[in-house]
Amino acid sequence: MDLTELNGIATAMVASGKGILAADESSGTIKKRFDAIGVESTEENRRDYREMLFRSKEAMSQYISGVILYDETIWQDAKDGTPLVRLIEQSGAIPGIKVDEGTQALPMCPGETVTAGLDKLAERLKKYYERGARFAKWRAVIDIGSGIPSMTAISVNAHALARYAALCQAAQIVPIVEPEVLMDGDHDIDRCYEVTQRVLNKTFQELRVQRVALEGMVLKPNMAISGKKCARQASVEEVAEKTIRLLKACVPAAVPGIAFLSGGQSDEEATAHLNAMHKLGPLPWGLTFSYGRALQAAPQKAWSGKAENVAAGQRAFSHRARMNGLASKGEWQSSLEKKAA
Ligand code: 13P
Repeated sequence: MDLTELNGIATAMVASGKGILAADESSGTIKKRFDAIGVESTEENRRDYREMLFRSKEAMSQYISGVILYDETIWQDAKDGTPLVRLIEQSGAIPGIKVDEGTQALPMCPGETVTAGLDKLAERLKKYYERGARFAKWRAVIDIGSGIPSMTAISVNAHALARYAALCQAAQIVPIVEPEVLMDGDHDIDRCYEVTQRVLNKTFQELRVQRVALEGMVLKPNMAISGKKCARQASVEEVAEKTIRLLKACVPAAVPGIAFLSGGQSDEEATAHLNAMHKLGPLPWGLTFSYGRALQAAPQKAWSGKAENVAAGQRAFSHRARMNGLASKGEWQSSLEKKAA
């Protein structure tokens, strides 16, 4: 393992003013997104859509540091035969790959899951590296509900995250470690805080036990935020203040960067929260976005599967990427949203 190189990649992934595009929706998830805009989820449509994003010059060259791909996409070519991975590299962004294989029911723990995909991971990482991937992602999912999460679910998911991270570093790939505490329930922000704290503490304990070099990884956490169905929705300032307090308590300064998931927040909420956190600096790590939905909802709608809408889709993507790029420096203002095309 060359830790200097891993640290350089991790640092570039969270460079100020830039963030990560999570375009790694599984076949099932992208079908849901396409259903919502009336587009059939064929291999060609998925390629055309992602090619549109990766060819968005302004967004990709100025505001996107890296792109997380799904297995299908990393092997796909653009319409003109150029591998999609090369399009990403040519824009100056770093290609990455989702390597987990989704969640499975966790035995003895009703309603809870553990993430699969460790079998043969070392071999798969080797092939992804050869294709150009320089970082990877593994998502663990922790749900909050009555009597959950159990310590069992937290523990097995943290263990798997650390197993994955160590395998990545041995393959000279930067692991994005993503323990996502879902915002689906009716719990309040303080319960989210408390659960996320337990999850992060256990995750870093496992990372240490399994000798993962913190300097060569990126953390992708949820924010401390109210559950979607909670009657009291915390303000932007409260989310920012509690999230920074939580991360400072749990994430060692050796970690080069933290890149949030959006997890179901609206586009503008996700941007406003990141921006507000940067008002609370200086911070010990790079702090940016690794959004899926909050970057793609607008371009998906603008594109709607029609070739004549590609330019509009790219404009919508570039706008959201720029807004989040500004938020990653604390320079975003809501008035900038209204000036959008
Ligand atoms: P969202 O921003 O839509 O939560 O997606 C990010 C991601 O990669 C989840 O694994």
